[in-house]
Amino acid sequence: MVKDIINDRINRLRKLIAKENFDTFMVLVEENRRYLSGFTGGDSQFDETAGILFITETSLILATDSRYDEQAKIESPQYEIIQYKEGLVKELSTILGNLNTKKLGFESARLAVMQYDIIKEELKKAGSEIELVPVKELVEKLRVNKSEPEIESIKKATAIAETAFTECLKSITPGITEAETAWILEKNIREAGADALSFTPIIASGPNSAMPHAIPGKRKIKPGEPFLFDWGAKIDGYCSDTSRTVTLGKPDDHFEKIYQIVYDSQRMAIDAIKPGVSSKSIDKIARDHIDQKGYGKHFGHGLGHGTGLSVHEPPSLGPIKEYILEPGMISTVEPGIYIPGWGGVRLENMIVVRDDGAEVLNTLDLDHYIVEV
Ligand code: GLY
Ligand code: MN
Ligand code: MN
Repeated sequence: MVKDIINDRINRLRKLIAKENFDTFMVLVEENRRYLSGFTGGDSQFDETAGILFITETSLILATDSRYDEQAKIESPQYEIIQYKEGLVKELSTILGNLNTKKLGFESARLAVMQYDIIKEELKKAGSEIELVPVKELVEKLRVNKSEPEIESIKKATAIAETAFTECLKSITPGITEAETAWILEKNIREAGADALSFTPIIASGPNSAMPHAIPGKRKIKPGEPFLFDWGAKIDGYCSDTSRTVTLGKPDDHFEKIYQIVYDSQRMAIDAIKPGVSSKSIDKIARDHIDQKGYGKHFGHGLGHGTGLSVHEPPSLGPIKEYILEPGMISTVEPGIYIPGWGGVRLENMIVVRDDGAEVLNTLDLDHYIVEV
C-alpha cells in the first residue's frame, strides 16, 4: 500500500522531470524526501541532512550516513541505499558518474550558497563537467494536491489537537502563566495520540496577543482579556494548524467587536473558496472586510497557507503569490487583528477545497469563546 503510494508519486515526478532541463534530480528538502521515499529521517537543523535522493528516469538512490542507513533500508525499499562515509560531497562525483548525469537539478530552496560552492569545487576537482541546475517548487507541485489518505491524516491531526485544547481549557484559571498553559497543551497533544507537535504552540495573553508569533512566557492571564492559542499536532508526518482566541470570563465590548470582525472575515473567505478561484481573491475578501471596519493596518500577515508534511507550504492564501484553487488543496484561513498595547484576535481553521466549495476540517466551535471560570 505505502509502496504503491510512493511509486505513484515517483511516476508523477518523473513526468515533470521529463519536461525539465536536467536528467538527475537531487532532492534535499526533508518533507520532499519523505514524500517521495517514505524515509522519515529528520534533518534536525538547517546545516545537517539525514539523506539525499537522486532520481533519474530509471534510478532511485537514497544517499545517507551510518546513523540512518538501517532505517533507510527498511523505510525505502524502492531505493538503492548508498552509505557515504566522508560526507556526501566527497562521493557526489562517483554517484553522479554512475548515473551518467550531465545536468543535475537541485532544490535551490535548501542548498546554502556555501554548500553549493563546495559541490562546485569538488566536481571541478574530480574533472566533472556536470552542470548544476537550480529547481524551485517541483515536488511541491505534487504535494499541493492532497490524496484522501493525506486529508484523513490531517483531519486526524486536527481532531487530536482540538481534543487537547478542549481538555486544556478545563484546567486553566486566571493567574496561570502562558508557559504553564503551553505545557498543559503540549502534554495533552501527545497524550491524545499525536506523533509530535506541528510547531511550538503560540500562547499569548492580553497585550502579548498583539504579537502574531508570541512565545509563551511568564505573563499571567487576567479575566476578560484576549488569550490567543495557535497550536497543532502531527500524525504520520502531517501537520494540523489551528488558532482560537478565548477569554476567561466575560470580555469587554471592544473584544466582542474585534472578535466579530475577525469571525465574519473568516466566514466570508471560507464561503468564497471553490475550485477555479484565485488564492489572492480569497485573501482580499477577508482583508477588505477588516479594512472596511477600520482595522486594515492591524492585519499584516497573509490570510492562510497550505499545510501538509510542512506546517507552511503552497498554496498561500495571501496578497502576493497567486494560486488557482483546485480540489484537494488544503489551506488555513486565519484572519487576525493585532492592536499593540491591547492584544489580538486570530481565528484559524483548516479547509480542504472540494468540488462544491470548502470543507472545514475543524469541528471546534467558533461561536463560544468565553471560558467559564
Ligand atoms: N502557526 C503559525 C501559523 O498559523 O501560520
Ligand atoms: Mn497557526
Ligand atoms: Mn497557520
